[in-house]
Amino acid sequence: MSVYSSPSSNGAQAPYVIGIAGLGTVGCGVIAILQSMERELADKIGRTILVKMVSAQNRAKERPVDIGRYQWVDDALEMADDPEIDCIVEMIGGSDGPAKALVEKALANGKAVVTANKALMAFHGAELAKAAEGQSLFLGFEAAVAGGIPAIKILRESLGGNRVTGISGILNGTCNYILTTMRESGRSFDDVLAEAQALGYAEADPSFDIDGIDAAHKLAILCAIAFGVKIDFSTLPVTGIRHIQAGDIAYATQLGYRIKLLGLARSDAHGKVSIRVEPCFVKADSQIGAVESVFNAVIYDAEPVDRIMVVGRGAGAGPTASAVLSDILDAAQGAVLPVYARPCDQLVTLDKEFATRQQDEESRFYLRLRVLDVPGVVADVATVLKNYQISISVVSQEGRAPKQPVDVVFVLHEASEKSVADACRDLSELQSVLERPTVLRIEDL
Ligand SMILES: NC(=O)c1ccc[n+]([C@@H]2O[C@H](COP(=O)([O-])OP(=O)(O)OC[C@H]3O[C@@H](n4cnc5c(N)ncnc54)[C@H](OP(=O)(O)O)[C@@H]3O)[C@@H](O)[C@H]2O)c1
Repeated sequence: MSVYSSPSSNGAQAPYVIGIAGLGTVGCGVIAILQSMERELADKIGRTILVKMVSAQNRAKERPVDIGRYQWVDDALEMADDPEIDCIVEMIGGSDGPAKALVEKALANGKAVVTANKALMAFHGAELAKAAEGQSLFLGFEAAVAGGIPAIKILRESLGGNRVTGISGILNGTCNYILTTMRESGRSFDDVLAEAQALGYAEADPSFDIDGIDAAHKLAILCAIAFGVKIDFSTLPVTGIRHIQAGDIAYATQLGYRIKLLGLARSDAHGKVSIRVEPCFVKADSQIGAVESVFNAVIYDAEPVDRIMVVGRGAGAGPTASAVLSDILDAAQGAVLPVYARPCDQLVTLDKEFATRQQDEESRFYLRLRVLDVPGVVADVATVLKNYQISISVVSQEGRAPKQPVDVVFVLHEASEKSVADACRDLSELQSVLERPTVLRIEDL
């Protein structure tokens, strides 16, 4: 639902005045587009986008764009008090602290807000949406999910006439880069992570990305729009990719799969929502299996449109700034969008029993066991699996090494997450099983 104001009778409107807080990768990316496309953008929307103020932490720092023409403020909050500024563009980051204070103040002072901040929207989106909605203000966060992919606009606007039943996404480019490079090079997780850090694809503290937290924030934002749910992160099952070994990647390839860190959310016929973030097997020849390296992808399953998949760059200055600009242009054209596609007081916290419910959902699973190569070990494993009514579709042992550690890989038929977890607990107690079993869901996407 978009409401656009009409231009004045001579077609020209007053400039749309913005303040940009945060001049890092994304903030400078936004300025680069505004500077290089100034005339084109003005022609397109019938008014100039004018940057009045900028702010960052360190005024002396070299920036890749010329910021000399803008008024510098040490305290970004000053922008929110400037009566000439129509829109605050928050590119600082962080769920709390200065970013939150700035966005709250901007909305309180009746200004539109554009942010790329997924952590802020994941934790405080509902309250910020309420503040925006109360005054019919624009609050745009397209860049917060999947960078340059218009994941939010598609969901909120293009799929407005659908009942969304599922979201499946590769939502973290760092993880996808690591998993792709591990497959292509056969190298270990630690080795590839170190390289990703050196190349700037992973942060010095990579835990936010590799432990699935960043993907969970993005999935939570999409779930609020798709299903009207608020997420309590402490209850959300989130597994990252630290435990994925080069062997798992090689076995996946042999079996015709790729390993992807997926954000998965489903809504059943009764509107009960399941949501999880975990590395999964997907078919190598599926569309999502072909999404490699730093690319992101989002699949929406919806009725009646069926399935839509969008792929693109999920991070970086240009792609992320592209999404920020789309919000700035909407705001400048007077768009007032319901932040979560519904009045925000209709958002409900995900029901408490969802975690238990989703443990009963059935999937196929990959199971890898590091075992001592002794007679009867596979039979022992099969007995444990049988105790939980889990049947085996494929079993494969890599090589032969009597009395030495070897990997035995199983593909399991449909079983509940709970029964597989219980079986793994029993398997860990077998003398011949040397390490915690590795279990990965197989997703038919
Ligand atoms: N990078 C991406 O590809 C990407 C993709 C999607 C979404 N995002 C989101 O976009 C936002 C910005 O990310 P980024 O990668 O551009 O971060 P970044 O490169 O670390 O830049 C952060 C900027 O914020 C400034 N800053 C820090 N504290 C401040 C304060 N109190 N007041 C004003 N400015 C302050 C920093 O100043 P100094 O430069 O002076 O230190 C820096 O310019 C984050 O929310 C991030 O999650 C980023």
